Amino acid sequence: MKILITGSAGFIGFSMCEYFLKKKYSVTGIDNFDDYYSVKLKKKRINILKKHKNFIFFDIDLMDKLQIKKILNKNNFTFIFHFAAQAGVRYSQKNPQKYINSNIISFINLMENIKSRKLKKFFYASSSSVYGNSKKFPCNESQELKPINIYSKSKKFNEKIASYYSKKYRITMIGLRFFTIFGEWGRPDMLLIKMFEAIRNNEKLQINNYGNHSRDFTYIGDVKKIFDKLLNKRIIGHKIFNICSSKPLKILNICKNFKNKNLKIKKIAKHSADVLKTYGDNKKIKNLTSIKFVNQMKEINKLYNWYNKTNMYRYLEK
Ligand SMILES: NC(=O)c1ccc[n+]([C@@H]2O[C@H](COP(=O)([O-])OP(=O)(O)OC[C@H]3O[C@@H](n4cnc5c(N)ncnc54)[C@H](O)[C@@H]3O)[C@@H](O)[C@H]2O)c1
Repeated sequence: MKILITGSAGFIGFSMCEYFLKKKYSVTGIDNFDDYYSVKLKKKRINILKKHKNFIFFDIDLMDKLQIKKILNKNNFTFIFHFAAQAGVRYSQKNPQKYINSNIISFINLMENIKSRKLKKFFYASSSSVYGNSKKFPCNESQELKPINIYSKSKKFNEKIASYYSKKYRITMIGLRFFTIFGEWGRPDMLLIKMFEAIRNNEKLQINNYGNHSRDFTYIGDVKKIFDKLLNKRIIGHKIFNICSSKPLKILNICKNFKNKNLKIKKIAKHSADVLKTYGDNKKIKNLTSIKFVNQMKEINKLYNWYNKTNMYRYLEK
């Protein structure tokens, strides 16, 4: 079984590559080592993957249609996991063009290249941010979407485009609305690694909206189990799933948990790209996969130990 994973130097792409490689599947990874955050960390992740004989890596940009075509022509992939994207809601105000290139044009490049191929399933990353400032909780997959920034609008657009290609070319496409995924080798631009860095460097952690945001933190180990189950499920057409624990945590409460580690915080106003709360309904994915989600606070505490044990900070400078 051959699997293609885009964004393989990124957090979720890397985690899924590693998971499938350990299962002895053949995995091809694509990434352009974008410098949105530490390239050293991305290279470290790829070096870990390269220790597996069944891993092939291409340092290419998904804007490059010809390169994508070449790779797809040479391989008959059974599954594609598309995780490459410009992530981050706040950065989308600073650099909207990157979101157009990596999230929209690149997505269409991929669609155009897979439309006539025999694929079992095409998985792609959407985001909880498509719900915007929803007042209805928990958010479920069929409610109205109200994205409030360029990032979340690009994800909504991906869902519309996937729906079109899936119907027209009869390809099974599965969009995953991820809700704040965290775990080992996680993203340094997201709260937890930023918090661990602040503790280590004895600096103040800035928390937006005075710590009153709530996020539906979801452990990467649960994401791996979900994908494993989805590979073999009979799914036809275009389907969307929330990937979330359905247990939002208030940011201030996470910070309180690290008070005894001498965490210092600076409360600041809300950023205009942020939503107040994410809280997803996970019944649809639970009914299909029977997955049981882990206790997030326990995993967050374990992650802090992992961060210190592996000295992850060594890989965090740009
Ligand atoms: N981590 C989360 O909590 C979360 C939440 C919601 C949605 N998502 C989505 O899940 C996916 C993976 O997220 P992540 O946290 O692993 O992000 P990440 O930034 O760690 O990984 C994305 C990877 O894609 C690569 N990339 C970007 N543009 C590219 C291009 N044009 N060509 C080739 N490679 C390119 C980057 O270099 C990076 O390594 C993204 O689509 C993201 O929007 C993530």
